Amino acid sequence: MNTQTSQGTALITGASSGIGSIYADRLALRGYDLILAGRDAARLESLAAKLRGGRTVDIVAGDLGKKADVREIERRLLTDASITLFVNNAGQAAVTPLIESDVEKLEQMIEVNVVAFTRLAAAAARAFVKRGRGTIINISSAVALAPEMLNGAYNGSKAYVLNFTQSMQNELAGKGVQVQAVLPGAVGTEFWARVGLPLEHLPQEIVMPVETVVDAALAGLDQGELVTIPSLPDVENWDAFVAARKVLRPNLSRAQAAARYRPPASPAPRRL
Ligand SMILES: NC(=O)c1ccc[n+]([C@@H]2O[C@H](COP(=O)([O-])OP(=O)(O)OC[C@H]3O[C@@H](n4cnc5c(N)ncnc54)[C@H](OP(=O)(O)O)[C@@H]3O)[C@@H](O)[C@H]2O)c1
Repeated sequence: MNTQTSQGTALITGASSGIGSIYADRLALRGYDLILAGRDAARLESLAAKLRGGRTVDIVAGDLGKKADVREIERRLLTDASITLFVNNAGQAAVTPLIESDVEKLEQMIEVNVVAFTRLAAAAARAFVKRGRGTIINISSAVALAPEMLNGAYNGSKAYVLNFTQSMQNELAGKGVQVQAVLPGAVGTEFWARVGLPLEHLPQEIVMPVETVVDAALAGLDQGELVTIPSLPDVENWDAFVAARKVLRPNLSRAQAAARYRPPASPAPRRL
């Protein structure tokens, strides 16, 4: 294990498997103590046991679909001054078309991907601004940019994460807090099997190994990127997308409707 000086503590949600578990490994190697969150206490404990040599690793088991459990993580973010990095990663998928989906399950997903995500991001932002430093990594998805893919509630939840992160950056610039949204494409984790879509059913050329995703995301963080798309070869494509969005901005709120929406000129009054 590492002998680096502690960088403070990283709190990671969804650390029991997949992307979160690799963040735990990589951040321990970078010198962070860890707080690992997830529902599955046994898995969290077994990961913690592997990472403990030389680092302090705590676990907090709870369901982000339950307010009391979300509040416990908020409390830690707000009160534990050793926390310097927050990975807002826990998430669930939905892959069926809207009209075939169980709307109760979509609501549960939104509770985790949007509601808990927001409360925890807000707690981390408040705490880090107060302490004058901190890093927030929000795990979005490439489907934030591809609303035609998967389920609209899922990709909408991930577009929320992207939009929210861009807004956070706008608000927190100059307050010592670094924020990053990570937009992986398909990743080789349990995420897919959990919703009944085995990973083997995806074209293998679009599936990135989970270690590659996290290492690329951390490289993007080190480069100070606000948005990291691990698979995107040419970053100028993203810059062009952002520039196109900004072109719209001066015309997004005006007193007059655009000419094409104005009623046609009224005809001359008829003489009866
Ligand atoms: N895999 C992909 O293709 C992919 C692509 C783009 C983005 N992402 C995003 O990456 C993030 C991590 O996903 P992953 O691929 O690593 O999948 P994963 O292996 O299924 O991990 C999901 C993690 O979230 C936790 N979690 C799920 N529901 C929870 C709840 N109600 N309360 C607390 N924790 C909960 C799980 O922990 P427990 O089971 O212990 O509760 C698990 O640790 C998600 O936000 C996902 O949207 C994934």
